[in-house]
Amino acid sequence: MKKRILLGAAGAIVAGLLAYFGPDLLGLYRLDRYISASAAAYETNSGPWPHVTDACIGCHGVKGNSMHQGYPSLAGQPAPYLAAQLRKFASGERPNPTMGPLAMTMSETEINHLADHFARQPPGDNRSFMPDAVLREKGRQLVAQGNCAACHGGQLMGREQFPRLAGQGYDYLLAQFDAFANGARSDPTGMMTRIATAASPQDRKAMAIYLASLAPQKK
Ligand code: HEC
Ligand code: HEC
Repeated sequence: MKKRILLGAAGAIVAGLLAYFGPDLLGLYRLDRYISASAAAYETNSGPWPHVTDACIGCHGVKGNSMHQGYPSLAGQPAPYLAAQLRKFASGERPNPTMGPLAMTMSETEINHLADHFARQPPGDNRSFMPDAVLREKGRQLVAQGNCAACHGGQLMGREQFPRLAGQGYDYLLAQFDAFANGARSDPTGMMTRIATAASPQDRKAMAIYLASLAPQKK
C-alpha cells in the first residue's frame, strides 16, 4: 500500500517534470541514447576504450581516410602491406621521423591489430583533390603502359604486399616516387626503383595526379 503511494508520488513528480520541462527532457533523453549508441558502435569496431587507433586519427583521418594530401589514407589497404610498412618503419628500412619512433613502440600483436583494423575500413573518395585534366590523361596512359595493375591489383585497389594506389593523397604519392628514385625507399622486386628513376619529374606528377583522382572501388 505504502509502496503504491510512493510510486504514485514518483509518477506524479515525473509527470510534473515532463509538463514543465517537456521537450527539453525528451531532448536530453534522446541525446543520452545517441551517445550510448555511438559509444557502442565505437566499441564494437575495435575493442574497449581507449583505442590504440585513436593515436592515428590526427594524421591519417577518421577510420583511416586522410583529409590531407600529404598523409596517406590507410583505409582499405591490404593488411599484409600495412603490417610490412610498420615493421619497415620500426627497423629504419623505411626511414621516417614520425612513423619510425611510433612504430618502434609497437608490439607484433599491435602491428597486426592495427593493420587488420585499417584494412577493414571502407576507403573513401579523395574528394578534396582537384586534378589537372591534361596531366591526368597523361598519367592514365603512363599507368596503363606501366601495367601497374599487374602488381597493384585490379582497379589499383591493392592486394597482399602491394598497396592500393586509387584515391591515395597526391602529395604523398609524389613524395613516394621521389623516395623510390633517391633510394630512401625500396621494394623487394626492385620494380618501384626502376619505375621512379625512369620517369621524368613531369611523368611522376602526371601519374600521381591520375592515381589520386581515382575513386576507390567499394569492396
Ligand atoms: C603526426 C602524424 C602521424 C601520426 C600520428 C601517425 N602517422 Fe602514420 N604516417 C605519417 C606520415 C607523414 C606518413 C608517410 C611517411 C612517408 O612519407 O614515408 C605515414 C605513413 C604511415 C603508413 C604507411 C602508409 C603507406 O601507404 O605506405 C602506415 C601503415 C602508418 N603511417 C600507420 C600509422 C598508424 C597505425 C598510426 C597510429 C598508431 C599512425 N600511422 C600515426 C604520419 C603520422
Ligand atoms: C612488380 C610489381 C610492381 C609493379 C609492376 C608496380 N609496382 Fe608500385 N609497388 C610495388 C611494391 C611491392 C610496393 C610496396 C613497396 C614497399 O613495400 O615499400 C609498391 C609501392 C608503390 C607506391 C607507394 C604507395 C604507398 O602507399 O606508399 C606507388 C606510388 C607505386 N607503387 C606506384 C606504381 C605505379 C604508378 C606503377 C606503374 C607505373 C607501379 N607502382 C608498378 C610493386 C610494383
